[in-house]
Amino acid sequence: MEKKSPRNKTITLSAADRERLQPRVLRPAALCSEADVENRVVGGDLYEMLDRVPDGVADLIIADPPYNLDKQFGTNSFSARSRAEYVGYLRSWLPALCKKLAPYGSLYVCCDWGSSSAVEEVLGENLTILNRITWQREKGRGAAHNWKNGMEDIWFAVKDPGNYTFNLDAVKQKRRVLAPYRDKSGPRDWQQEGDVKYRATCPSNLWDDITIPYWSMAENTPHPTQKPEKLIAKLILASSNEGDMVFDPFGGSGTTAVVAKKLGRRFCTVEIDDEYCLLALRRLEMAEEDASIQGYTDGCFWERNSTVAQISAKRKKANKR
Ligand SMILES: C[S@@+](CC[C@H](N)C(=O)[O-])C[C@H]1O[C@@H](n2cnc3c(N)ncnc32)[C@H](O)[C@@H]1O
Repeated sequence: MEKKSPRNKTITLSAADRERLQPRVLRPAALCSEADVENRVVGGDLYEMLDRVPDGVADLIIADPPYNLDKQFGTNSFSARSRAEYVGYLRSWLPALCKKLAPYGSLYVCCDWGSSSAVEEVLGENLTILNRITWQREKGRGAAHNWKNGMEDIWFAVKDPGNYTFNLDAVKQKRRVLAPYRDKSGPRDWQQEGDVKYRATCPSNLWDDITIPYWSMAENTPHPTQKPEKLIAKLILASSNEGDMVFDPFGGSGTTAVVAKKLGRRFCTVEIDDEYCLLALRRLEMAEEDASIQGYTDGCFWERNSTVAQISAKRKKANKR
């Protein structure tokens, strides 16, 4: 077996992990109750599970389906198809998935530039679309005769535009203020921590401060399209409350379930590949020991490298020179 570098934190499964975790995968054969699926990793095909998970169960759904690309997910492969066929694929599960939403629920669907217009079309047939977030991924494969793909879209839709959860304060980003303005009443729109000045800013729909997981990050797994915990944390904090149920129909390595658990939400995640179910369960076990989310510190999303501790460390280093 290839030896892992000491800095490589990628989560892998031992034989003992597999034996311990396998019995924890839920494999429902008939319609379940909400209590049955609560905090469970469901192993199986979403098309069957949509009949077995109860309607109206989810306060929030985060769907990260296969994009319209050739991709191997464990033992299953997904093939790129025409736009019309991809629209047909989305119509084969998205309307049934929307039935799982509570009356005031929200749904996010992830995609890339090639599948974004198809997702907009089918999502708009079923729910009210409120926004499209664009995530500028830092990494991506270069192309010899085209622009490198460095973005993904996340469509945000709700069942009832007059009644849905959006916790703005929970997702404000703390940015360092370089030119602090004061008026007679004191600091204008900024606060001080230590000797560092911050402003809590409204998050926009362009996210450029989140990296995809890589081998030296504690959350990294061998899943080929794992989402970063920080990205999922923003969605969960904005669009659900503590104790709410978060449903993920394409669970993969379990990122949604893990972040939901870390943030005090309930979860249910469905995944067809057994190995990914086990990785999700291993991550859920690890979350019991360590509930931290990289990039989310002291209940805040900070501008990169700008927490008080990071700035103090930078200053110390500069003073030594
Ligand atoms: C884009 S990945 C999701 C990655 C996940 N967000 C994460 O952070 O690890 C899509 C996942 O959906 C799973 N999948 C595809 N078709 C499925 C189906 N019909 N039922 C259940 N899972 C499915 C794949 O095995 C794959 O792991």
